[in-house]
Amino acid sequence: METNLIEVDLFTGPGEAARQAAALIEAGEVVAMPTETVYGLAGDATRADAVAKIFSAKGRPAHDPLIVHVRSARALEGVAEVPAEVDDLFHKLTEAFWPGPLTIILPKGPDVVDAVTAGLPTVAVRCSDAPVFKAVLKLVGRPLAAPSANRFGRISPTSAAAVMKELDGRIPLVVDAGACREGVESTIVRLHPPEREKAKPRIEVLRAGPVTREMLKPFGKVEVVNRSVASDGVEPAEAPGLLDSHYAPSTPLLLPQKPEDFQPEQGSRYALLSYRGDPKDGFLGLHDWAEVEILSPGSGKLPEAAVRFYALLRRLDELGVDGIVAEPLPTHGLGLALNDRLQRAGSGG
Ligand code: TXA
Ligand code: MG
Repeated sequence: METNLIEVDLFTGPGEAARQAAALIEAGEVVAMPTETVYGLAGDATRADAVAKIFSAKGRPAHDPLIVHVRSARALEGVAEVPAEVDDLFHKLTEAFWPGPLTIILPKGPDVVDAVTAGLPTVAVRCSDAPVFKAVLKLVGRPLAAPSANRFGRISPTSAAAVMKELDGRIPLVVDAGACREGVESTIVRLHPPEREKAKPRIEVLRAGPVTREMLKPFGKVEVVNRSVASDGVEPAEAPGLLDSHYAPSTPLLLPQKPEDFQPEQGSRYALLSYRGDPKDGFLGLHDWAEVEILSPGSGKLPEAAVRFYALLRRLDELGVDGIVAEPLPTHGLGLALNDRLQRAGSGG
């Protein structure tokens, strides 16, 4: 199959690109287009044929469920149900963060085909803020299933060029609207009612992302799921995308906590993924690096690091070195999401 690439004119808006994408999706096809987090591979969530194409283009195992994108919190009919016991929390969260990078797990509605949720009784719903994605949702008028537009287990794409490297020849269209604003996948949460009267509701973070623990805190008691508990891939309901080899470069990724922990092998070539490129952090001068990339040059800013994260990881992966060493990142705010992706990328092949 030939993969066409259409660019969105950032001044005139998504018009023609959105029309082409919508026409293909209405014909049961799948299209890659940007969300604010990463590029997604979108298809009609109510059509089994379209959903099957998403799984096969990605090479994704059928037991790993997809996220469903909707136009707004009012467009959930048939897609998901909001249990009365978490209704208040749901509305507060969606008012604060939708459209935006927050995905919420809810009981599944009848319109979403079973393959989307891998047979689970729950569905992950999200409302993207990206202009082209919003335009396509409006034109199609149906919920869209859209996982990240990479081959299964690989690095998520944050540019159209990265999507082409992953899916060229496997899908009919890639919509290019530039680099993604956030750079890491949405935060995924499950909602729980208060355990006692007058207690706060509980927000369980299944995947850390741009809506940070700190941002969720005003809305309830935030619990971040321990990935070592939820990473065996046996219970997808408990382990969203926490299969260990997720988000992985082909090059081994090393995560020394301190410079002294790095033990290079004789004759091996290593590249460094530095946080802020500051020699004081102890990594720059530690080794004769084959290449150095800096996530946030200067003072080190997590949003900047997030935007550049997957592109730089992909670049270092393409060098063909024997190992990529990633400096430790701060653990607050967006750092939690970045550390989570590094851990998973480092643990697999
Ligand atoms: O930012 C994002 O969320 C991007 C953009 C394209 O929307 N999408 C994305 O999708 O990251 P994906 O498929 O790569 O990751 C979604 C994760 C999967 O790992 C899946 O296991 C989890 O969400 N998930 C989906 N439905 C679930 C459910 N019902 N219960 C628990 N986890 C679920
Ligand atoms: Mg993914």
